[in-house]
Amino acid sequence: MDKRTQYLQAMDIPLWEERNAPAHSMDISPQPPASTTTWIALQEEVAVCTKCDLNKTRTHTVFGIGNQKAQLVIIGEAPGANEDKQGIPFVGRAGMLLTSMLQSIGLHREDVFIANVLKCRPPNNRDPSLHEVELCTPYLLRQLEHIQPRLIVAVGRIAAHYLLNTQEALSRLRGKLHHYGEQSIPLWVTFHPAYLLRSPKEKARAYVDLLKIRELLEQLP
Ligand code: URA
Repeated sequence: MDKRTQYLQAMDIPLWEERNAPAHSMDISPQPPASTTTWIALQEEVAVCTKCDLNKTRTHTVFGIGNQKAQLVIIGEAPGANEDKQGIPFVGRAGMLLTSMLQSIGLHREDVFIANVLKCRPPNNRDPSLHEVELCTPYLLRQLEHIQPRLIVAVGRIAAHYLLNTQEALSRLRGKLHHYGEQSIPLWVTFHPAYLLRSPKEKARAYVDLLKIRELLEQLP
């Protein structure tokens, strides 16, 4: 069984393939070296952040992980309990599914950058507050300025709402290209992997999003 089939099976997605379809390939070659000093300074700043009260309850800040020059940045809502313990985003069951989702389109966690709207865990996994998001967003903007991705993928309703400044239902936000921030970075919305764990029937629709994400990565400048 090839790797793609294994990953799709891990996501519980039935496999069908176009006959004589061309093999997919994607250019994910590394970009020129980044300004590492700025990046490290930003990491250090986040690590000791006390801008909001979440610093009082967190174990670790969760800066984000992956390729500093990634073409794709994945953004979730906020760290959960596992992420808070380890200081790494998407490490629980939802994180494992996110990894399989990426692998299903030929990407590895190291190819992309994974972050959240918030760098600290809200107690009891409550939703991030607007005040917390406003205080934390400058960090995300600086990360994106440094990474210069081709595409952002917002996973889940809450990340999509805060990034796009909207209250529209996820169903209406999926399936069209949005843009984020002053640099107007293309942004695609898909399901949160934690939701997909609760609603596995939606995985087929998530895979449609993933195929679109791969297509966008191939097409976008
Ligand atoms: N859910 C998120 O939105 N982010 C994480 O890092 C983990 C779970």
